[in-house]
Amino acid sequence: MNPFRYKNGVLHADGVSLADLATEIGTPFYCYSESAISAQYRAYVDAFADQDAVVCYAMKANDNLAILRTFAELGAGADVVSGGELQRALAAGIPPSKIIFSGVGKTEDELALALSTGIMQINVESFAEMEALSRAAVAKGVTAEIAIRINPNVDAKTHDKISTGRKQDKFGIDIELAADAYRKAAELPGLDAAAVAVHIGSQLTSLDPFRAAFSRVAELVGELRAAGHDIRRVDLGGGLGIDYDGAAPPTPAAYAAVIKETVGHLGCRVLLEPGRNLVGNAGILVSRVIYTKDGDDRDFVIVDAAMNDLIRPALYDAYHGIRPVAEPAGGANLQRVDVVGPVCETGDTFTRARDLPPLSAGDLLIFDSAGAYCAVMASTYNARPHVPEILVKEGQFSIVRARQTIEDMLRAENFADWQTAVN
Ligand code: LLP
Repeated sequence: MNPFRYKNGVLHADGVSLADLATEIGTPFYCYSESAISAQYRAYVDAFADQDAVVCYAMKANDNLAILRTFAELGAGADVVSGGELQRALAAGIPPSKIIFSGVGKTEDELALALSTGIMQINVESFAEMEALSRAAVAKGVTAEIAIRINPNVDAKTHDKISTGRKQDKFGIDIELAADAYRKAAELPGLDAAAVAVHIGSQLTSLDPFRAAFSRVAELVGELRAAGHDIRRVDLGGGLGIDYDGAAPPTPAAYAAVIKETVGHLGCRVLLEPGRNLVGNAGILVSRVIYTKDGDDRDFVIVDAAMNDLIRPALYDAYHGIRPVAEPAGGANLQRVDVVGPVCETGDTFTRARDLPPLSAGDLLIFDSAGAYCAVMASTYNARPHVPEILVKEGQFSIVRARQTIEDMLRAENFADWQTAVN
């Protein structure tokens, strides 16, 4: 369900006019639909109704507190990758008993924080980390339930920068070394290796790499059990893609079927870490055209959002749908344009040579599928303040992150002690 639809000639977000919102809030801003997030979460849970599965939202996709609160109210857990994310998840009321801590470089402080909050599982990614965690657990007098994240050497066939399960990628322990890793975990004090974890990448549009990776996990669980390890859970990571450009990725139900087929016979609890799939299509970025500029070679639409607000096109050559907020007249001629932001580098280009309805200065437009990995990846490059985030639900809206001001920015910095003040 796309919650951003035209009504009376104006794009609405779950009953709220984006034109009215833009007048009230100013542009640019992110807008998320709580109903769309809930619907997608329910689709996920329904798809796994006949399996013992726990959905732990990968909050790196969108860690706004109100989004986390939505998941807490739905009963979801969380997959966190830093002490900061752990504290945000707890602040939003996600129970520690449903929190997984992933990541390749957790510091001693982060491990200690995880142990003192009593989260469900810490996913260990190296022998060195395993030793550090054992020391921290012994010091605290607790036993840490861990998964060892294995690297199955499977190519997820997604963008190079978001592939994580190939041998050359920094993640996990090579599957060939898994037996040694579990032996070591059994020897070290303070650790209970309860699970096997895997995550091969993000924005997967085929089920085949999942099938390959999960089959390897199932085989490994058999071998580990035969060696006497009490493996009770498999953590299958996230990665299921979303529709950015009209090509529909597999549904949660088809994904659940692959999981049942590959690991269903193990009798393990299945932990899931979806991020993008739950929130990606539930958000947009709203922006206003500042100028248009017709060049000799190409025509530009210059908007007030930029790569600091939405970096995915610059970083991954990502495609985001672009639609005007005012519904284009039927049969309007399309114009081939580059849509660019004001930041001073050529990378600040949202799209090149896209055929769009006519756009003029002052017009509002949206970037679709901006609920995941957009606001969270924003920066203040070019001294551009963070933009607001709005949550809508059935005709209501709430500002869930205020627009940062220049004063906020300046307040966080100061001159060096030896410098003179500005009068
Ligand atoms: N679990 C782990 C251990 C992960 O590293 C990730 C994502 C997920 C779960 C969630 O994956 P998802 O279901 O969202 O695909 N910034 C990039 C995506 C980076 C993904 C990083 N890890 C982008 O904008 O495409």
